[in-house]
Amino acid sequence: MKFARITLSDRAAAGIYEDRSGPAIEQFFAEQIATAIEWQRVLIADERAEIERVLREVCDAGETALIVTTGGTGPSPRDVTPEATRAVLERELPGFGEIMRVQSFAKVPTAILSRSTAGTRGKTLIINLPGNPRAIGECLPLLLPAIIECLDHLGWERVARL
Ligand code: MTE
Repeated sequence: MKFARITLSDRAAAGIYEDRSGPAIEQFFAEQIATAIEWQRVLIADERAEIERVLREVCDAGETALIVTTGGTGPSPRDVTPEATRAVLERELPGFGEIMRVQSFAKVPTAILSRSTAGTRGKTLIINLPGNPRAIGECLPLLLPAIIECLDHLGWERVARL
């Protein structure tokens, strides 16, 4: 199956620091699922038009089951990932963002600063994660059962857990 991970960060895209969140997304799935995944890896700056263009291109090619974005979900002026995501979604799945905020809040009170959302465009599920590498490990375990079920509903092969 094809999955894509997209890191949205001005500083990582400029080479000021290393992207650790994108690789953490891949590592999580490698440790949790048996299904072989071919990853598309993207690192771009917090530019809304470019984010929308990439999301549309990946979804509309019709081959990618899941896009996980990381970063750009906060309240800073340059954080535009939720806006770009909503602009391309056909159907929003607000529960993904809701559960991340509620469950993370107990550990990290600043979790409510993330405006992350999720939804579908065509057969592709798009999920926004916060940019902090630690947030990947805190959030993805909460979402995995719903990701597997959602991909099934969208018509992909059933993802097998390890
Ligand atoms: N959620 C979890 N689980 N862990 C975190 O460290 N960081 C928070 C929040 N959600 C965080 C989290 C912070 S400090 C911010 S500003 C927002 O995510 C948005 O981060 P982003 O703009 O990098 O996406």
